[in-house]
Amino acid sequence: MTEILTEIAGGVMTLTFNRPDKKNALTAEMYAALADAFATAEADPAVRVILLAGAGGVFTAGNDLQDFLARPPSGDDAPVFRFLRALVTAQKPLVAAVSGVAVGVGTTMLLHCDLVYAGDSARLSMPFVNLALVPEAGSSLLLPRLVGHQKAAELLMFGEPIDARTAREIGLVAEVFPDAALAGEVRARVAKLAAKAPEALRLTKQLMKAPKATAAEQMAAEGALFQQRLGSAEAREAFTAFMEKRAPRF
Ligand code: COA
Repeated sequence: MTEILTEIAGGVMTLTFNRPDKKNALTAEMYAALADAFATAEADPAVRVILLAGAGGVFTAGNDLQDFLARPPSGDDAPVFRFLRALVTAQKPLVAAVSGVAVGVGTTMLLHCDLVYAGDSARLSMPFVNLALVPEAGSSLLLPRLVGHQKAAELLMFGEPIDARTAREIGLVAEVFPDAALAGEVRARVAKLAAKAPEALRLTKQLMKAPKATAAEQMAAEGALFQQRLGSAEAREAFTAFMEKRAPRF
């Protein structure tokens, strides 16, 4: 499937939406390829990080509206739902590099990413209501939690695009770079992540994504994992490397 380019190199699986003549709008076949790739990534210890990107200067125009009308997804196993489940259950760090438009699911999938980097051409929008639809991908829960009810209502009810800088200000994006620098900056960051202790990263993501408990409950959950980690081979290697004044090897 060439409309989803898959590359594994240096511990990073890069998935590139590659249908630039249709602004990388996502069809059922593309969702299926993405869901399969996520399953491969989770099962393959050589993959430490998953990176989402778009070809041709756009991220994605979201669901292919023609495909959605002609073949509306039905049942839990529809490719779009398989992909959305893969996003919400992903255990490995998920990073996105966004330039150009990110419409609909192009934006809501970012709410599941651990780190989102944007080029200054990025334009994020969720025009579900304008299409007489409702938010998807858990965005009606995740967006208000992230940006507050007022900002989420603006974004979800008016459906108008926001630029990269606004997205960063409200916490949807970690960093913004000039478009020409985006790929290189993201490559450097995912390479850094891919060299970190994988199990420690997985548990950190798990703790961050857990349904929010009270601080006391979260502290107890952290404490239990922290103690386990102290006895792990990864921690032994990190501590030994520090003592031996060398970089750790995970
Ligand atoms: N589904 C199907 N086709 C799409 C699409 C989508 N979501 N988004 C873009 N395309 C197609 C266009 O129909 C057009 O096809 P054509 O060349 O055969 O006419 C091609 O991609 C280029 O799009 P165009 O609208 O000419 O590009 P643009 O740069 O002027 O605008 C967008 C880009 C993304 C702002 C605009 O295409 C758009 O609003 N698309 C719909 C986005 C949307 O509503 N997504 C679903 C959210 S739930």
